[in-house]
Amino acid sequence: MSFPRCDRTAAWAALQGHFQAHGRGLDLREAFARDPARFQALSFEAPEVFADLSKNLLDAATLHFLLDLARECGLEARRDAMLAGESVNLTEGRAVLHTALRAPRGAAPFSDEVHATLDAMLAFADEVRGTAKRDPEGKDRSGGPVAITDVVNIGIGGSDLGPRMAVAALEPLARSGPRLHFVSNVDGHDIDAVLRGLDARRTLFIVASKTFTTQETMANAHAARDWFDAQGGTDRAAHFVGVTTNLKAAAAFGITRTFGFWDWVGGRYSLWSAIGLPLAIAVGSAQFRAFLDGAHAMDRHFATAPLARNLPVLLGLLDLWYRNFHGFASRSVAPYHQGLHRLPAYLQQLEMESNGKGVDLDGAPLPYGTSPVVWGEPGTNGQHAYFQMLHQGTDVIPVEFILVRQPAHALRDQHAKLLANGLAQAQALMLGKTIDQALAEQAPTASATLDRATLARHRTFPGNRPSTTLLLEALTPRTLGSLIALYEHRVFVSGALWGINSFDQWGVELGKALCNALLPRLDSGDVAGLDASTAGLLQRLKGAHA
Ligand code: F6P
Repeated sequence: MSFPRCDRTAAWAALQGHFQAHGRGLDLREAFARDPARFQALSFEAPEVFADLSKNLLDAATLHFLLDLARECGLEARRDAMLAGESVNLTEGRAVLHTALRAPRGAAPFSDEVHATLDAMLAFADEVRGTAKRDPEGKDRSGGPVAITDVVNIGIGGSDLGPRMAVAALEPLARSGPRLHFVSNVDGHDIDAVLRGLDARRTLFIVASKTFTTQETMANAHAARDWFDAQGGTDRAAHFVGVTTNLKAAAAFGITRTFGFWDWVGGRYSLWSAIGLPLAIAVGSAQFRAFLDGAHAMDRHFATAPLARNLPVLLGLLDLWYRNFHGFASRSVAPYHQGLHRLPAYLQQLEMESNGKGVDLDGAPLPYGTSPVVWGEPGTNGQHAYFQMLHQGTDVIPVEFILVRQPAHALRDQHAKLLANGLAQAQALMLGKTIDQALAEQAPTASATLDRATLARHRTFPGNRPSTTLLLEALTPRTLGSLIALYEHRVFVSGALWGINSFDQWGVELGKALCNALLPRLDSGDVAGLDASTAGLLQRLKGAHA
């Protein structure tokens, strides 16, 4: 399959002309005034997600050229190749089939093994969940399985961020199950804090690692095993399970119950596999299946909706438009739902590990930017931290608001305040405030030293700052599944257009290798051959700097 790189297409040149002539200067306030139907024209329905793109710096012509770009770059063919299981991860010679993990039986490649593993994993999840339900205090019961009151997931990156994010998002459904804990950092403070207060007889450890070689995870798994033995734990086989593609290494560690997955599931796309076990334990098998169904519905939308109404396609195109034409280097994610407080961290891996690449598929250095920096905090907390910069700073940073219509609590007034805040921030970014408005509002005696006009200038907002709003009806397993699949496909779209491999992560390897080389030096103090900075720091850490 050979398609031109995005910057070598006619559509790219057309976009450049369009940007110079119209795009750069588009004013959202004028655009809304000119076109009363702008909201209708630029808002889109996808499964479980309503998206308002109308507060973005684009118009019908921009979309037209962007869609031309998608066609010229063969986006549909690339998408179809991925969904069909072709080896689209070229640098690792692998297929990319996380979509097969959420497809109904018989509907995607590898269906038999996917569903056999899913069934086994979910049966186990329900069994664990059931023990906690029957015996929430963790008291001994005669007969049945020992009650598990605490589950500790040990994993990092894709073996942590997805389940951790999703368990937090669906917390109201998890209250009747065991407590879920997550340990990821090699920093011993992480596992130390979690193990404190746990009872080995009531604790289940999930060692989650695609490779089962990751330094952090192996260190924490050994620490957990030592702790378990020291606490008088007797039945390791019942208290440690593995989730991995490396069954041999898990067996060598002493794990007898393992749920597998496959090399065609990337770590950051693995939440739908047995890596989702913590989520399945938290919410139960029926809800986990609803989560998969939500994702599958978004897969169908991505596979079949016309490009002009295909939400992952539109968001991916918008990302390229901002990154490569407007030059915006970051995007802020603002989920107005406390349950989504780990979403920005999850998206950082999904997007930045996938698309943080500097060469095209032929290995040629790219002359344009790729992954933006993705960052954020849940609303309204972010408003009291960095929103100042978003409103009045010198950089324009597109913001993505996520609003959820129905809360999972009964505090209606607070929910109304939350939603009003989200709407208001998007509005303020777009509308801004002129000097005349600031002058009209300003109290005449506000400052003894600055005159009214100077004070007013500090209180103006440039406005015309873009945002997208994604709207969910409620945060449920199904809507969460759709939302996450939307993000996955959006990352695929921008990566495909940029002509990069979104599915490898060679950039994490160098630091791992250097760490392995430095580790013995921390013990020996040998700094021979090291650069002066690393040598100096290492000596200080050894306390040998005098
Ligand atoms: O950080 C690199 C990485 O390979 C991620 O892609 C992956 O999600 C993480 O490490 C954990 O890997 P594993 O599941 O093999 O322990």
